[in-house]
Amino acid sequence: MREKLLNLKNEALAQIISAVDPEELERLHAHYLGKSGILNQISKEFKNLSGEEKAETGQLFNEIKTAITDTLASNSQASNPKPQNLDLSLPGIKPPQGHLHPVTRAIEEISSIFEKIGFIRVRYPEVDWDWYAFESLNMPKSHPARDDWETFFIDAPEHPKLGKMILTPHTSSGQVREMERLGQPPIRMLNIAKCYRRQVDVSHTPMFHHFEGLVIDQNINISHLKGTIDYFVKQFFGQNRQSRIRPYHFQFTEPSFEVDVTCDICLGKGCKLCKEGWLELGGAGMVHPNVLKAGKIDPEKFTGFAFGWGVERTYMMKSGLKIPDLRLLYSNDIRFLNQF
Ligand code: PHE
Repeated sequence: MREKLLNLKNEALAQIISAVDPEELERLHAHYLGKSGILNQISKEFKNLSGEEKAETGQLFNEIKTAITDTLASNSQASNPKPQNLDLSLPGIKPPQGHLHPVTRAIEEISSIFEKIGFIRVRYPEVDWDWYAFESLNMPKSHPARDDWETFFIDAPEHPKLGKMILTPHTSSGQVREMERLGQPPIRMLNIAKCYRRQVDVSHTPMFHHFEGLVIDQNINISHLKGTIDYFVKQFFGQNRQSRIRPYHFQFTEPSFEVDVTCDICLGKGCKLCKEGWLELGGAGMVHPNVLKAGKIDPEKFTGFAFGWGVERTYMMKSGLKIPDLRLLYSNDIRFLNQF
C-alpha cells in the first residue's frame, strides 16, 4: 500500500508539472482528486487495513493528497495568471488621434464662407491646355506677361487648337471652363485647386492652392467686388481687419487690382513685420471683355469680377500664425502638423 501511494505521488506530480494548458490540469484534478478519482478509490481500501497500518498509511495518504493539491494549485496559477491590482475604473490608454491637414481645414473654411453668399464650389483639371490657362485669358502666345507664371509644360503632343499641355499655374484656368459649363450667366464660381509653378524658397512651394472667385451677371461692378472682398476678410480674418484694393495689371481683368489686408499685429498702423500696416492677399479685377468673348458670353450684356488668392498665403495671414518656411506645410513632419 505504501509503495503504491509513493508511486502514485511521483506519477501525479510529474504529470501535473508537465501539463501545459488549463484543460489538462482540470482533467488531472478530476483524475486524482475528483469524487471518483484515484485517491478516493484508494481511501476506500483503508477499511481492510489493521489499526497501526491504517494510521501510518493514513498520514502518508494525507501528505500525498496535500502535495497533489498544492502542485495543481500552483501550476494552474502559472498557466492562467490572474491580473493583480486590476483597477477597472482607471482611464484607458487613448490611441493617438490625427486631424485634417491645416491646408484642408483652410479650404473648408474658405468654401463655407463663400457658399453662404451663393458661390458654387467647382474643380477643373490640374493638367490642362494652354488655351484655358493663358490664351483664353487674353494672353497671346508670345506675351511677356506669361513669364510671370513660371509654368511647367507636359511632354505631350500639342493640341491643334488648345495648344500645349501644362500644369495649371493658377485657378483662372477655370474661368472659361465655367462659362462653357453653364453657358449663360449668372455665374458664381468658387474654384479651389492645386497650382504649380517653377519656384521653391521659404515663401514658395512648387505645388500650392489657389481659390478663385468668378461672378458674372448683369450690372456687376467694382462695388460688388469690394463688398465681396470685405465680407470675406471680416469672416476669415476677423471683424477688426480691413481690406483695400490697389491698381495693378493683369491681362484678364480690366481694371485690375491687388488686394491688401491690414496686418494682424499693428492692424494697419505700421510695424516692423509689415509694409506700412498692410499685407498683400492677391489679385482681382473686372473680367476683361475678351475673356467673356472666349467663354461665348456677350460683354455688351454682362460684366463680372474675379479674384484669385493663394490658400496657404491667406491662411498664413490669419492672426497668430507665423510660419517661417512655407515648405513645412508639405514636409509631412508630424512635429510641425501636431501644432495645428
Ligand atoms: N490668376 C492670378 C494670379 O495667378 C490672380 C487673379 C485672379 C487676378 C483673378 C485677377 C483675377 O496671380
